[in-house]
Amino acid sequence: TVTSTAPEPLPLDAVDLTDHDNFTDGELPWRMYDTLRREDPVHWQSEPAPGSGFWAVTRHADIVRAGSDPETFTSTAFTNLEEVDEEHREMRRSLLETDGPRHRAMRRLLQRQFTPRAVAAYEVFLRGLTARTLDTALAKGSRFDFVREIAADFPINVLARMLGVPEHDTPRLIDWGNRIIGNTDPDYADVLLGTEESERYRDLPFRSPAALEVFAYGRELAARRAGGGGEDLVSRLVDQPPSDGVALSERDFDNYFLLLVVAGNETTRHAISHAMLALIDHPEQRERLRRDPSLMPGAVEEFLRWASPVHHFRRTATRDTELGGRRVAEGEKVVLWFASGNRDETVFEEPYRFDVTRSPNDHLTFGKGGPHFCLGASLARLELRVMFEELLPRLADIRLTAAPRRVRSNFVNGLKELPVEVTLV
Ligand code: HEM
Repeated sequence: TVTSTAPEPLPLDAVDLTDHDNFTDGELPWRMYDTLRREDPVHWQSEPAPGSGFWAVTRHADIVRAGSDPETFTSTAFTNLEEVDEEHREMRRSLLETDGPRHRAMRRLLQRQFTPRAVAAYEVFLRGLTARTLDTALAKGSRFDFVREIAADFPINVLARMLGVPEHDTPRLIDWGNRIIGNTDPDYADVLLGTEESERYRDLPFRSPAALEVFAYGRELAARRAGGGGEDLVSRLVDQPPSDGVALSERDFDNYFLLLVVAGNETTRHAISHAMLALIDHPEQRERLRRDPSLMPGAVEEFLRWASPVHHFRRTATRDTELGGRRVAEGEKVVLWFASGNRDETVFEEPYRFDVTRSPNDHLTFGKGGPHFCLGASLARLELRVMFEELLPRLADIRLTAAPRRVRSNFVNGLKELPVEVTLV
């Protein structure tokens, strides 16, 4: 289960952020981060070949500094650890790996669809979806896997709605999302990064062949929507010229569509599952929330801090520079460990205490300060709030029946199984 006190110290030479196996343990990542923040907050982490190694940035202030300065720390040389050559970068580039005026123009295409006001329009739909998901799961019996029955498919159903994907196609979207993001976990993977087979898919996002199916599907939707003036995300992408006057190429559209399918799926799923686990581990706070739903918006921020569904995103130095007292050379990878920043004791009082009334709560879960701040943050917040507003009044009690299982990944901080037993009100 999750710790409430600072984790046991770990010697610096035992830290290895490149080994995905370290991330299947509930405590080890937090112990590594703790050691790094204390002993070597901008740490040179070597990588197995062909990786070149990277700077691991683990303190809140340094993460915000690098994230807010895209001219020095660019996203255009890619945002995951993988080194991607120039040709494949161009083929795989999405909003996430674009900077400057083009990034602003591409982001503006959908910005209005993701404001707090715009997403509030989905609240009624979300409440209905949550109620249906919960009633179906709870009707199956008192013991079930919370991830599979409740958390897993909920976020993608919301995105499917926003993309205008018909309900009967949603299961395909779910399957693609799982196969693409979980590509370091053999339970999900089509292609394991680093294997020879993955070389065949170098030009695809996450090197996943499932991306081809997503592209084909996205293009079909686009063809049906073009010129229709609809308000769904696909219609906006195909009908609206970017503000810099440069039309989206077919590949731009493919990669944008794929980003939307994957970005809000696993992340929100894991936020929900981690929040549930935290509330199982802290029944007194669960009870408090149940009695006083006005605490929910603050609680959602603590769910997000606690869950930290994304361990890191990467930047690349565009020039020789300095960060946290270290000299960083042009071309070096600089990796922002948001999850570590969320336990920084100089920012969060007792960071290992889960507290639904924590305030202030300046977490880094969606990034912070820079142009790539999560586009879906308001949507994710709404999904979490609605989920727990609907769930808690139905639950008299909830217990774990076995240990949770974690996704094998140093990128997404995920739960793949959360076996529970519930007593209904
Ligand atoms: C960007 C996390 C939900 C869409 C990001 C970034 C983070 C993040 C950390 C910044 C990437 C960077 O700095 O390089 C999360 C978490 C979520 C979540 C933890 C759930 C709890 C969503 C949802 C959507 C979404 C629901 C909806 C489609 C995006 C997009 C970007 C992004 C499109 C790229 C923005 C840009 O590059 O300008 N997200 N996200 N996310 N997120 Fe989310």
